[in-house]
Amino acid sequence: MEQKLRPARRRFLEHSALGLLGLAIAPSWLSAMDMSSSRGGGGTQPNPSFKPDVELELIAREEAVSILDGPKTQVLRYTARLITGPKEVLTELPGSYLGPLIRLQQGQKVRIQFRHELSEPTITHWHGLHVPAEMDGHPHQAISKGETRVYEFEVLNRAGFHIYHPHPHGATASQVYMGLAGGLIIHDPEEAKLGLPSGDYEIPLVLQDRSFDRNNQLVYASNMHERMLGFAGDQILVNGRPGGAIEVASRAYRLRIMNGSNARIYKLGWSDGSNVIVIGVDGGLLEAPERYPYVMLAPGERLDVWADFSGQSLGTVLTLGSLPFKGVLPRMATSMGGGRMGASKLPIGSAYPIVTFKVTQKMSDSPTLPMHLSRYPHYRLDQVMNKDRPIPIAIKESPMAMLLNGQPYGQGGFQPFERVPVNSLQLIEIFHDHAAAMEHGESSVSPKEALKKPSGMGGMGHQMMGMGGMNHEAGSREGGMGMMDGGMMMSMAHPIHLHGQQFQVISRTIGMGEEESYGTVKNGLMSSGYKDTVLVMPGERVRLIKPFNDFKGVFMYHCHNLEHEDMGMMREFEVY
Ligand code: C2O
Ligand code: CU
Ligand code: CU
Repeated sequence: MEQKLRPARRRFLEHSALGLLGLAIAPSWLSAMDMSSSRGGGGTQPNPSFKPDVELELIAREEAVSILDGPKTQVLRYTARLITGPKEVLTELPGSYLGPLIRLQQGQKVRIQFRHELSEPTITHWHGLHVPAEMDGHPHQAISKGETRVYEFEVLNRAGFHIYHPHPHGATASQVYMGLAGGLIIHDPEEAKLGLPSGDYEIPLVLQDRSFDRNNQLVYASNMHERMLGFAGDQILVNGRPGGAIEVASRAYRLRIMNGSNARIYKLGWSDGSNVIVIGVDGGLLEAPERYPYVMLAPGERLDVWADFSGQSLGTVLTLGSLPFKGVLPRMATSMGGGRMGASKLPIGSAYPIVTFKVTQKMSDSPTLPMHLSRYPHYRLDQVMNKDRPIPIAIKESPMAMLLNGQPYGQGGFQPFERVPVNSLQLIEIFHDHAAAMEHGESSVSPKEALKKPSGMGGMGHQMMGMGGMNHEAGSREGGMGMMDGGMMMSMAHPIHLHGQQFQVISRTIGMGEEESYGTVKNGLMSSGYKDTVLVMPGERVRLIKPFNDFKGVFMYHCHNLEHEDMGMMREFEVY
């Protein structure tokens, strides 16, 4: 594995260094607005008036790759070809089923012509990018074999590490599982000035879990359990390869970590007990480095880590692993029917190694950790449009379905609070509606009131909404099961992802009865910086502030447990 990884990494990093030289920032806002009005774009034909700095052809197809010893594995894989632009845009991860890393600069205009040779429809989404709705890879834009979807957008994001992955409704989980995913790195001048480790010293780590059968073929069993809990594989793959040792020099490295798993949540920590030094999250660099005893990383989340091996002697081995934790899976999942809590040989929450670093080269100098990384505004409550009326994202968990705001994806149209004016800053509150109502007695709504139809929600706040939805369920579908049982039994962790611009988490509160398991994760829950995916623990209430700038149209929000997403735990905002 070392031999295979090293040349790849070297190429990857030479390219990144080059990329920073050719930096040219176009005046971005004006042209972005132009793009949002040209609704014709993002169709089947390139827009002739859009002049791309970077143009790619992206293809999804079936391939056989060698992952384990023995027979090759059939996968689905993104491949790309550069049509226009600097060659550092694309970097292959050799031997991986993952798509090439796409490396862009802020301000670049990008055209991507996407087509596929799969037997079922698909569409590609740029997770983390702030692009017009028509360019976002909405499920309704899914194309069939042989068709082409043309994306044209300008890179408005600050520097960060993002994901491109499929988003067809009902088939995202299986397509990602079979291999469709890739990393997308954006650079900007603010980041370039810091001189962070680059070249050989910047290492992407995409974490995924997979199960293989005796013939080395991927197994994606999705029985009722796996749909309700999310799929957990038997084995961890890093960059699409079985974990192994990465040879490093005794100096500082930049690790760009992505949780690309369908449902597995990691509690990342170092084997020697040293702190994890976090320099960035989903939406880019933090203001200053932060030290954590461990970091929770849920599907869809990214982490920028400063790993300092300076002063380590030759032969030192350090492992980044997942530490034990509790509370992310339902406590009483056994009553769901099958009796087993997930089928993985590597249970979520157990302890296991992920990737090992071995110091094989002595180096006398190393870059030092910058004290300040980035400057950005902190969103404040007095700036939001809806201070007293947060947009609810009510997580509803029942033995039959996982839902957001009481409705499965595609049903019921936009609820009033799902219509958001463009160029506004909004307060959003994510909570478990069972937990909120049952365990904490927070609601002052009487059962009678709660059973009223949640009509005219505009001015009523979220609690009525959550209560109404829940009680209807309790009274009908859940039948004889107590509401308390219903809530307690199914409460689990959900990584909630919002498309469009990144948000800032402003508070987390945990409900009574959840403190014990919460204690095993709480010191590693990410709340700093710009996020697009936030892990919401059982009983937890998370408040965040999100801008909805520049682009009108439909933007999704959903659970990034991909089995949940496919099950319908997804809704949309209409930005108008
Ligand atoms: Cu990473 Cu809507 O997706
Ligand atoms: Cu996304
Ligand atoms: Cu979920």
